Amino acid sequence: MQEFLFGAALSAHQAEGGNIHNQWYEFEQKVLSKHNIKSGKSTNHYELYEEDFELARQLGHNAHRLSIEWARIEPEEGKIDFQEIQHYRKVLKSLKEKNIKPVITLFHFSLPLWFCKKGGFLHKKNISRFIEYSKFIVGELKDDLEYIITINEPQVYAYQGYLLGKWPPQKRKYFAYVKIVKNLVKAHKWAYSELKAINPNFKISIAKNNQIFVPARKNHPIDNAITNYFDYTWNYHFLNKIHKQLDFIGLNYYFYRGVKFTPTLARKFYQFHYPTCRKTDMDWEVFPKGIYILLNELQKRYRLPIMITENGVADDTDKLRQDVITETLEWVFKAKKEEVNIIGYLHWSLLDNMEWNEGFKYRFGLVKVDYNNYTRSIRPSALLYKQLIDKYTEQMAKTAKRK
Ligand code: BGC
Repeated sequence: MQEFLFGAALSAHQAEGGNIHNQWYEFEQKVLSKHNIKSGKSTNHYELYEEDFELARQLGHNAHRLSIEWARIEPEEGKIDFQEIQHYRKVLKSLKEKNIKPVITLFHFSLPLWFCKKGGFLHKKNISRFIEYSKFIVGELKDDLEYIITINEPQVYAYQGYLLGKWPPQKRKYFAYVKIVKNLVKAHKWAYSELKAINPNFKISIAKNNQIFVPARKNHPIDNAITNYFDYTWNYHFLNKIHKQLDFIGLNYYFYRGVKFTPTLARKFYQFHYPTCRKTDMDWEVFPKGIYILLNELQKRYRLPIMITENGVADDTDKLRQDVITETLEWVFKAKKEEVNIIGYLHWSLLDNMEWNEGFKYRFGLVKVDYNNYTRSIRPSALLYKQLIDKYTEQMAKTAKRK
């Protein structure tokens, strides 16, 4: 029986601290600092990774998702910082010693500033730089790798930075959005073949943000038409382009969206909030059953193993998080029982961390971080998650025995 992966996820820029060579740092200097947001040492995970992984181990995790910060490895074009490679070697070694399997991400929203100054993924010719880097770093770390995510949420990156204009480089151009998506398709496919050439046993995917879209008014033809349009363009367009270059599907699940056509609301015409729905601190609607629907749909369409690479809530009280973990895992294991090929569940996040342009006010962690002194404290949800890991692991072992 293949071991089911249970754990949590983090990304470099959000947790490590001291990432000063990427585009987010420049954005922070120019924009975020005006709102008093400074990444600084963040959670100080860069120094405290050993302690953090020890907590993960105690909490029953056997997998951990992390990203390798390209801007640390190559702070200037063509200049490799070998000390940083050494750092990530130590990070991977620390996980290995604790029997925690790494799932690494090569591009999780942060990119070297020099790469962005050249236009980043907007220019097709720059893709080769990402490929060179990917080959290089994977080549360096290959002995400790198995699961590799090339790109985290390509459409979220494109949407936030090139259509909505909230993230760097703050563009609002539909054609730029389309171009970025197209180039990220190319980047993934290319990286996939190069990395497979290094080791055909690598299991490679992207982390795909899929969402539940439902018409706010069941029989309303426009609501229905827009729902179908969003469902296809957001959830399946990208995957349709790359599904032959995937060894599994990484699924990030957060959003439940009611689609209501109200022309007067201009840009937000599709957004409908369910008054009855529980909401996270970021006002996101909570719908644990959605994961069951998405898992089934992905299985039907692609017949690939699925790893839940992110799922979680911003919740300072930790009450909602406990309910969401319990309910979500019920749906995940219902789907698994019904033969959906699910290979892991990674909660977002192991630690509270920097929520991009929102800074540190939202709390996603199983483990709470005190940003004044970087002390960690385990939240009740982390202990509950541990109990559930034990319960489902036992259940899976029993089922395997019976088969
Ligand atoms: C991203 C994370 C982010 C989380 C919560 C995902 O879209 O991959 O970086 O922190 O959602 O917003």
